[in-house]
Amino acid sequence: MAKLEEAFSIEDLKAIAKEKVPSVMFDYLQGGSEDELTLDWNREAFNKYEFVPRVLRDVTNVDLSTTVQGVDLKIPIINAPTGMARMFHHMGEIAAVRASHKAGAGYTLSTVSTTSIEDVAAAANGPMFFQIYEWHNQEMVKDFIERSRKCNYDGLMLAVDLPTLGKRERDLRNGHGRPAVIRKNTALGALSKPAWLYHFLTQPKWKMANMVNHLPHGAEAMKVIDNVNAQFRADVDWKDAQEMMGQWKGKFVLKGIQSVEDAVRAAEIGASGIVLSNHGGRQLDGAPAPLDLLPETVQAVGSDIEVMMDGGIMRGSDIIKALALGAKAVLIGKAYLYGLAAGGEAGVTRSYEILVDEMERVMRLIGCTSIEELNASHVRKRS
Ligand SMILES: Cc1cc2nc3c(=O)[nH]c(=O)nc-3n(C[C@H](O)[C@H](O)[C@H](O)COP(=O)(O)O)c2cc1C
Repeated sequence: MAKLEEAFSIEDLKAIAKEKVPSVMFDYLQGGSEDELTLDWNREAFNKYEFVPRVLRDVTNVDLSTTVQGVDLKIPIINAPTGMARMFHHMGEIAAVRASHKAGAGYTLSTVSTTSIEDVAAAANGPMFFQIYEWHNQEMVKDFIERSRKCNYDGLMLAVDLPTLGKRERDLRNGHGRPAVIRKNTALGALSKPAWLYHFLTQPKWKMANMVNHLPHGAEAMKVIDNVNAQFRADVDWKDAQEMMGQWKGKFVLKGIQSVEDAVRAAEIGASGIVLSNHGGRQLDGAPAPLDLLPETVQAVGSDIEVMMDGGIMRGSDIIKALALGAKAVLIGKAYLYGLAAGGEAGVTRSYEILVDEMERVMRLIGCTSIEELNASHVRKRS
């Protein structure tokens, strides 16, 4: 099995991750919905652009720092919210938040995390956002808001792309939603992943850590998955988003915007940011790639709202293209999760090392030395 330092790309980390975690978990990590068209489009979108390199410039020093949602970042990346991180590595969210902040990125904690709002805040050393849903249990949602405030999270990120769960067929086949089936499939898969199995058996059970005071069985993940899935509301509307924004009062980002019209609407209601996102191809199959929406969105909303994007980022060059097309920052999901599954905190650190090295290299090769300087003249659509 290759070592972390022998991983030179995120794809290399993905290959190590595949060897380390049972296939049920790996499928949950890498898969998309239905025919996985959107999953592929997210990647393909980056290949439609080429750089316009400028030469004979002093590119000795490259500065990747930026400011987004009022926080300073050393690199223009925020860790995307991803649920159930301990499924991929026993240190889960703690490993991820430590490595992200060490790299100078921001971090977003998912509502459905296996580590609590408080424990992540205690391990943090940089900007933190909390990803929230409008759920049926409003007491629980209020509790999340108050706890995020108390723990000094820098902003709330309301996920708006989940009125119902996407049809993820890999997960259905593996038995998600059917604990007995998933237990059997995981057990079979785990036999060939002894290190993962050892930690699974010796570490505390996975919990929906933010919900221990709200759900039965100490919020043990396998036992409460149906309770959690039943929380998703199909009737959430713009008024609900506005009300939550009013309760929170701080930086408020809508994650999962998928049209220019909704981006404009988000600016109109006074949200401080949006993330153009299709949930990494896990929700609506046939949803557009965020990168394809980016130029038109940025043009439509101007400086009224900060536009971020995620989906398909596997290379530093992808990030530079997104920023050149107007994103203030990007979020990465799978690119850091492959690192997490490959080697915990050291693995996520390796994800960041790879992306930073690639970003700096690209910046030098296109003749650009700061994010501020980067603009649409640095890229063009391939003919
Ligand atoms: C395993 C996994 C779990 C995720 N869980 C959540 C979640 O709990 N909340 C959320 O808003 N988005 C979730 N997402 C979506 C990510 O926040 C992000 O939008 C997506 O991963 C970006 O695409 P990428 O993986 O291609 O970078 C998840 C994504 C993955 C891969």
